[in-house]
Amino acid sequence: MEKSLKVGLFYGSETGNTKEYAFVIKDLLSSTILEMDKDPVDMAAFDVEDLLEYDMLIFGSPTWNIGELQSDIGEVFDEFDSIDLAGKLVAIYGFGDHEGYPDTYQDAIGILGRKLRERGAKLIGFSETSGHHFEESLGIEEGKFMGLALDNDNQAELSDERLRLWTKQLISEVAVLHPPQKISS
Ligand SMILES: Cc1cc2nc3c(=O)[nH]c(=O)nc-3n(C[C@H](O)[C@H](O)[C@H](O)COP(=O)(O)O)c2cc1C
Repeated sequence: MEKSLKVGLFYGSETGNTKEYAFVIKDLLSSTILEMDKDPVDMAAFDVEDLLEYDMLIFGSPTWNIGELQSDIGEVFDEFDSIDLAGKLVAIYGFGDHEGYPDTYQDAIGILGRKLRERGAKLIGFSETSGHHFEESLGIEEGKFMGLALDNDNQAELSDERLRLWTKQLISEVAVLHPPQKISS
């Protein structure tokens, strides 16, 4: 039997986009090496210690209030300083609005990503910026988004395909980083 990683998904959402797509991600990962045992967790009601039981964490945060994290994630943000995420893989997807907020587009991806890396996590799932029209973003590192950027305000028709490709990318990256181990069954 092949041993796979324990994957958890945690999100914050004001108007439902990030929540809806959390469940799409869960469906896309089912029957893969990243299959999730549990439903996505709303960070409005969670404890940072809950993160520790997983090998890989997927976070979803829209950017709100001009360059800020979604409010529930913002409230627990400082608590990340109390946990050690060394050895954990982290992938982030964000929602934003490139027409409405071109100077703070997808900032949440970068704010969250840098904090989680500071706590020891390894970030995976970076994606290209092509197709997104914006001026500035804290979500960029070396020319790529530090996760997946989705924009249902302007490009909702692209989100399903972007997610499909991104989840395939995650599976490939994890397969390289953590080749499946054989365990006796
Ligand atoms: C008041 C307000 C501020 C926002 N600020 C930003 C922003 O700074 N950057 C950005 O990319 N999107 C911004 N957005 C767009 C949201 O991130 C976007 O609508 C997202 O899909 C909301 O996700 P949710 O439905 O999960 O809450 C803002 C939206 C509103 C209404």
